[in-house]
Amino acid sequence: MRPMQDLPESMFGWTKLNDEIGGFSLEKHDMPKPEHGEVLIKTHSTSICGTDVHIWKWDDWAKENVPLGTITGHETCGVIVGLGDGVESHSIGDKVAIECHLACWDCPRCDEGNAHICERGEIFGVHSNGAFAPYFTIPAVNARKLPSNLAMENASIQDPLGNAIHTLTGGPVKGSSVAIHGLGPIGLFAVNAAKAMGASKVIAIDWDNQERMDMAKKLGADLVLGKDHNIVDEILANTDGRGVDNSCEFSGSPQALSNSIKSTRMGGYLNILSVYGDSTPPVPMNDVVFRYLHIKGINGRKMWSTWDLMHQLLEENKIDIETLITHRMPFEQFNQAMELAISGDCGKVVLEF
Ligand SMILES: NC(=O)c1ccc[n+]([C@@H]2O[C@H](COP(=O)([O-])OP(=O)(O)OC[C@H]3O[C@@H](n4cnc5c(N)ncnc54)[C@H](O)[C@@H]3O)[C@@H](O)[C@H]2O)c1
Ligand SMILES: [Zn+2]
Ligand SMILES: [Zn+2]
Repeated sequence: MRPMQDLPESMFGWTKLNDEIGGFSLEKHDMPKPEHGEVLIKTHSTSICGTDVHIWKWDDWAKENVPLGTITGHETCGVIVGLGDGVESHSIGDKVAIECHLACWDCPRCDEGNAHICERGEIFGVHSNGAFAPYFTIPAVNARKLPSNLAMENASIQDPLGNAIHTLTGGPVKGSSVAIHGLGPIGLFAVNAAKAMGASKVIAIDWDNQERMDMAKKLGADLVLGKDHNIVDEILANTDGRGVDNSCEFSGSPQALSNSIKSTRMGGYLNILSVYGDSTPPVPMNDVVFRYLHIKGINGRKMWSTWDLMHQLLEENKIDIETLITHRMPFEQFNQAMELAISGDCGKVVLEF
């Protein structure tokens, strides 16, 4: 390894230790060492994702995927402080943010440009150690250099912003009508990005989170709907009775899934990023068939076309990150930050190291 400075021999990272809800502890770990092709990064900040909430709640998915003893956290950014052998693409001191999908780059999915669903893929901070710690290692290709105008304190949000952009681009955006179902952090990023990408009308829908509905308005939504509205009727009424060109589902609610199917225009596009608590929500299938809908599941970010488009929007200062990050906390306050994220009384919550 080629280090920049004297590095500590050990560090403390938030570790999923116990087979129970919560069950995290700030544990001592050896300093990670970059292998061939990897970089060592000093963490600047790591934001909390819905996936971290699943791990906290220790649901069936989390139990199957997260080995006890793992340092979790994957939405992160920092500075390179060490290079493994063979790394020519990066330098000590580079400011980077992380693509958390670790790909083999050598399977049929990687070869066809779908490395985000690599057949041998793993998620950094889920299947292996991540970034709720002051240092971590990662393959150099997953460390994406920041657009020059993006402040480091805002850089960790490129993971959820990229999710939002990947979902939107499953259908037409420029000059098109777009509905965003679910105004969690990713849905809010999607409202912002849809306007930035030139959508002709953006309809934002939540259930009852008034703070998030107000944020959607601030981020440019043309119409905001909630539980007091008949969602399908309102969307149809605001699109000449046709439905929107492009619906994006970010709520995880079976009701929203049904609403989105019934309010997408004939031959339109429905892109689904949500993970559903019950993995078999009822689907009004005949509407899908007779409306001739294109339905697509979305996972992660395209490597690297989503990142390229995102960097273009960031360089044009078209994304209002300051509105979307509502809380910044020292990383020692991990448990409080998790409780805040679970409550929903927030946009993005960022832990600073
Ligand atoms: N596939 C992937 O790669 C990937 C990556 C990250 C997150 N996700 C999933 O994406 C989804 C969005 O994540 P997030 O953290 O932004 O969400 P979140 O859970 O913070 O927010 C969901 C929002 O949906 C709202 N909602 C509830 N019922 C609704 C309804 N019937 N209609 C409209 N809105 C409703 C809630 O009030 C809440 O504001 C989650 O399901 C998450 O698990 C998937
Ligand atoms: Zn995430
Ligand atoms: Zn692969």
